[in-house]
Amino acid sequence: MPSPVPDPTTAPHDAAAASAARLAELSGASRHDVAVVLGSGWKPAADRMGQVVVERPLADLGGFPDAAVEGHGSTFRSIAAGDRRLLVFMGRVHLYEGHHPNVVAHAVRTAVASGCAVVVLTNAAGGLRPGMAIGQPVLISDHVNLTGRNPLIGPADERLGPRFPDMTDAYSARLRELARSVEPDLEEGVYAGLLGPTYETPAEVRMVGTLGAHLVGMSTVTETIAAVHAGAEVLAISLVTNLAAGIGGEKLDHADVLAVAAASAERMGALVATLVGHL
Ligand code: HPA
Repeated sequence: MPSPVPDPTTAPHDAAAASAARLAELSGASRHDVAVVLGSGWKPAADRMGQVVVERPLADLGGFPDAAVEGHGSTFRSIAAGDRRLLVFMGRVHLYEGHHPNVVAHAVRTAVASGCAVVVLTNAAGGLRPGMAIGQPVLISDHVNLTGRNPLIGPADERLGPRFPDMTDAYSARLRELARSVEPDLEEGVYAGLLGPTYETPAEVRMVGTLGAHLVGMSTVTETIAAVHAGAEVLAISLVTNLAAGIGGEKLDHADVLAVAAASAERMGALVATLVGHL
């Protein structure tokens, strides 16, 4: 029997350390180097990154909820890529499922506790900058956290990171540069993270546009905050699955989001796999 993993809600550092210990045991690797979180439609990327050493339910690491929202898997893979080990989360936990921000952040904190210095986050997003096209990948250059939540709320724990972390270069300029050296056409944009699960109203989309956002979605910001806090470098990529509410005139439907994601999956998979190979 593996030892119990503390509740990430109240003991985020100890929970991440315990899940990292389980990962080491299950994967046979004492450390991992790069973490990848695959959002809606990004999963085929995991088949292109190297040799899958183990794939297990996320719940086996402890600290993760059992359930997964439709369109998201709930497994992780440990992948050998050359001399590096990748930790790939095939789906993620969202705030809108009712989970505490520390539960949403648990994957990233476990990855950093396992040795990952780079965290790659992917998601599906609505695009609101004129000219954005459905199916287009966009590098996230910065975010506006409109979720009203933050995974650092609570007692300060220097083992996790500083009380007041700097967020100036949250989405590593170095990694964005590297990504563009691999794929020069990649545009950048600011991501507004909302709580969901409703899609935005057209008025909300106009609001986030006024605030300087180009993309809107319901994930990523919590994980980015936790990763930066823990000292990791973040590379984040949105797949524009739809034009944001009120822009295209179409109503938003999760099935359409998944269909666009599925149609772009192979291309996005190749993109992430290539990027990870260059990290
Ligand atoms: N809004 C929020 N989240 C999303 C969207 C959107 O338009 N598309 C995909 N995820």
